[in-house]
Amino acid sequence: MSTPAPVRGAERIRRALLGSYPLIYVQSWEESRVERALAVLAQKYYERPVPFAVWTCVDGWPGLGDAPADTRGPLRALDVMLQAPGPGFFLMKDLPALLADRPDVVRKLRDAYRLMKGKGKFLVMVSPRLLLPEDMKKEVFLVDYDLPDEAEVRNAISILGKRYLGEGGLSSADADRIVTALRGQTLDELEHVFSKVFARTPRFDETTFDELLAEKEQSSRKEGVLEYVPPRVTLDDIGGLDNLKDWLRKRQNLFTREAVEAGLPVPKGLLMMGMSGCGKSLSVKTIPALWNLPLFRLDMNLVFGTSNPEASFHRALKTTEALAPAVLWIDEIEMAITGGREAGGGDPALGRIFSTFLTWMQEKEALVFVAATANRIHLLPAEFIRKGRFDQVFFVDLPNETERKAIFAVHLRKQKADLSKFDAVFLAKATKGYNGAEIESIVQAAAIDAFNEKRPLDEDDVSRVITNTVALSRTMDDQIKAIKSWAHNRAISASRESAT
Ligand SMILES: Nc1ncnc2c1ncn2[C@@H]1O[C@H](COP(=O)(O)OP(=O)(O)O)[C@@H](O)[C@H]1O
Ligand SMILES: [Mg+2]
Repeated sequence: MSTPAPVRGAERIRRALLGSYPLIYVQSWEESRVERALAVLAQKYYERPVPFAVWTCVDGWPGLGDAPADTRGPLRALDVMLQAPGPGFFLMKDLPALLADRPDVVRKLRDAYRLMKGKGKFLVMVSPRLLLPEDMKKEVFLVDYDLPDEAEVRNAISILGKRYLGEGGLSSADADRIVTALRGQTLDELEHVFSKVFARTPRFDETTFDELLAEKEQSSRKEGVLEYVPPRVTLDDIGGLDNLKDWLRKRQNLFTREAVEAGLPVPKGLLMMGMSGCGKSLSVKTIPALWNLPLFRLDMNLVFGTSNPEASFHRALKTTEALAPAVLWIDEIEMAITGGREAGGGDPALGRIFSTFLTWMQEKEALVFVAATANRIHLLPAEFIRKGRFDQVFFVDLPNETERKAIFAVHLRKQKADLSKFDAVFLAKATKGYNGAEIESIVQAAAIDAFNEKRPLDEDDVSRVITNTVALSRTMDDQIKAIKSWAHNRAISASRESAT
């Protein structure tokens, strides 16, 4: 299966023009990029250059030669645009935000549509959000202006590298790392991130790379419901879950051009379900470093916090496609099905969100890998887990003894403890029924005790804390049995041996 080349934003605008829609709405975060694209079109679209003007609610139409002095009001501005002679391109930046409570402006625009049609005059509105009143949808042509693709990002990074790091710029290996890490940013943001990091320290090394990641994290948070998750966790940070690790390792090169060209199937998705605190979310966080793909977490709480969850959800899926190849992480996906409530049903929007998601999973052509996790698995409908939707469904159980040993090792290492001083078998036996998160807290509490007594962490500290804690699983034995029997035929175990 070959993936069709996505149609780039500028090309979509050109197509809209060929279809001669006089009113065009560009949904984009990047006003300045849209502006440049239009300036170019104004130069080339007709046999000779035609006027191009930009309106804002603060400055009106400063570029329009014989316009009256004050064109800040939208009605006046539209009149001026309509009266301008001949063909031309008119970008109105703040117009979308005004439409909601200005029926007069909506009326004017609808009339303008008829007056402009076939005259070679185009009015373009731009906004990151879709703020189009229902009754205008017929007249307005909507363009989804994608984020820059890989080639555009690579090109921008090579230019920025020369600007900030001198003539040689970035080595191609370094540029590759940056492209992977920063894809999903707009060009404006790329420039901003580069200037922030490299103006201070004009060299590329692990420290500045980390700063780039931190900056990107910061800026992608603003974008709403998708959060960029930097590649900071590796498989070595997970104790146990060997089946799952193998699965991930075997697929680490499937998103490369070579694999796609060789016709290998591109993985669609992975569902991990089971006990909480056992490393499901942690496992997802290892994918970006292992597969060398950017990871975006879709926060369902934020989705349900927006005024139109369905639209935000859909928009987030579309955005990830524009960022492909990428990994989309939907943590606690049962939220998408129940809206976070124990008893599902009732709200039709929830059903629609869920079916939107299933259809998208089925039809998506872009290289987006979905990594989903679920804790309350009894809330997942059977059709969701049905074979074929996800490449694999893993059941993540409480760690068995071998795994608890490995988890202790991971967290003791994090506390810089000398592992040879610990009897890992004893610790593992003493923590039957504890999950990974609990083992982590035990080690941390022990480390704090030792620190306060100004001595290195030792085994006694750890076993004392173990004696004083009760594993959550003790209090929910029945629930755990139910989860296990439910998962038995539906998923394979993420661990190599069964739990003890
Ligand atoms: N198998 C594990 N190996 C190492 N640490 C673990 C493991 N499982 C859980 N932890 C620790 O507990 C924290 C919470 O685990 P998480 O992955 O969020 O659990 P969940 O399965 O609920 O998504 C992790 O960030 C990690 O520090
Ligand atoms: Mg989790």
